[in-house]
Amino acid sequence: MLASLTRHYHKLKENNAFRILLHPRVLANYHRYQKEQRERPLVMRSHPTGVEIELTNRCNLACVQCLRSQGLKPYRLGQMEFETYQRILEQFPWVINLSLNGFGEALMYPRFFDVVEYTRRKRPWCKIGIYSNGMLLHTERAERLISCGLTELNVSIDAALPETYCKVRRGGQLPVVHQNVRNLIRVRQRSRSRFPLIGLNFVLLNENEGELVTFVEQAADLGVDFINCITYAGYDWGFQNRRTVDSYRRELDAAAQRMEQLGIRCRSFPSDDLSWADPDRPFSCPFFWGENFRVTFSGEVTLGCCTPFKEMYTYGNLLEQPFEQIWNNAAYQRNRALAKQHIVPNPVCASCDRFSKRFFQLHGSLSAETPTAPGSPDGTH
Ligand SMILES: C[S@@+](CC[C@H](N)C(=O)[O-])C[C@H]1O[C@@H](n2cnc3c(N)ncnc32)[C@H](O)[C@@H]1O
Ligand code: SF4
Ligand code: SF4
Repeated sequence: MLASLTRHYHKLKENNAFRILLHPRVLANYHRYQKEQRERPLVMRSHPTGVEIELTNRCNLACVQCLRSQGLKPYRLGQMEFETYQRILEQFPWVINLSLNGFGEALMYPRFFDVVEYTRRKRPWCKIGIYSNGMLLHTERAERLISCGLTELNVSIDAALPETYCKVRRGGQLPVVHQNVRNLIRVRQRSRSRFPLIGLNFVLLNENEGELVTFVEQAADLGVDFINCITYAGYDWGFQNRRTVDSYRRELDAAAQRMEQLGIRCRSFPSDDLSWADPDRPFSCPFFWGENFRVTFSGEVTLGCCTPFKEMYTYGNLLEQPFEQIWNNAAYQRNRALAKQHIVPNPVCASCDRFSKRFFQLHGSLSAETPTAPGSPDGTH
């Protein structure tokens, strides 16, 4: 009981979200949603509490690991009208964790600050976060980034050496990003603000093997609040994994030790249990119950990881139907039912490494297999 209270206290503090206590219906939805996440019914009575809204899928970089760089088609580029954003937010009255991301760079969105300020007014209890490549955090934007109401900024770096960074985050420059982060922390200190919390993100890739420990040291030197370390989520196209479970383990162990020595907090770290890498693990994906889902710039409801396939796999469009109708429609119920039986509902999921996890097998027998095409257009994903 005490542990649970302490945990909740820290979570609220970290998200600057004590105001949620003034909104009992938001809290009630949160509790019901937690329960339904565990039970996994076909029809959900609660709303998801976390939503990603893609303001734009345009980007100033072309990162090697990013699905938008891998030539996946069809994939239309565009950005959301501000009024569309307002209409969409209206449909999520219970959201407590909002991410303004998609497959693009949120800071390229011309009315980014208007969106954050509007959201802060409408959902004062809400955590509002973004991932950014950090190239556009110019000095003149820093002040507004601190004051607009953003609670979390994750800067994606994925490398410790400038040469590696250039190979991975094509079009960016590591010294510029480091300088931008340093400057932003200085401005935040000057304005005596705790928010946004600033973190650095590292995706473990072929290209950056062996650089995680140095990345941890750089994060400590920059003085960020936390780091995230995540594994690559891929499909079967255009990517040959050279990493092995052992290489992951060695690097993660060394990084964990260094984090402890330097007192660096890691918010997301691949679990010690790498059993997800086992290709025989039964299919199970929580995304069908809303653990992660996204509204694209054009209003399509997709599952976060699979957004590039939205032209084929959308659950519905929020500009045409209310969320209530989409959330428990036939497509959602079908996929929930199949996932509960550990049946992969469509070819995109079959080729997804995130939960079916053929990642480490691409070396071996499966690498010779013909890649699966991006799904039949059965409109179910
Ligand atoms: C898609 S990006 C969008 C936000 C922003 N443009 C950025 O780079 O942070 C969000 C995060 O997803 C990560 N990402 C991209 N492709 C990935 C993949 N295949 N597996 C895991 N993470 C990936 C990026 O490195 C980044 O940290
Ligand atoms: S900066 Fe972000 S959205 Fe742009 S290509 Fe890189 S990972 Fe993808
Ligand atoms: S299994 Fe399917 S729904 Fe789940 S993350 Fe992969 S592609 Fe998305």
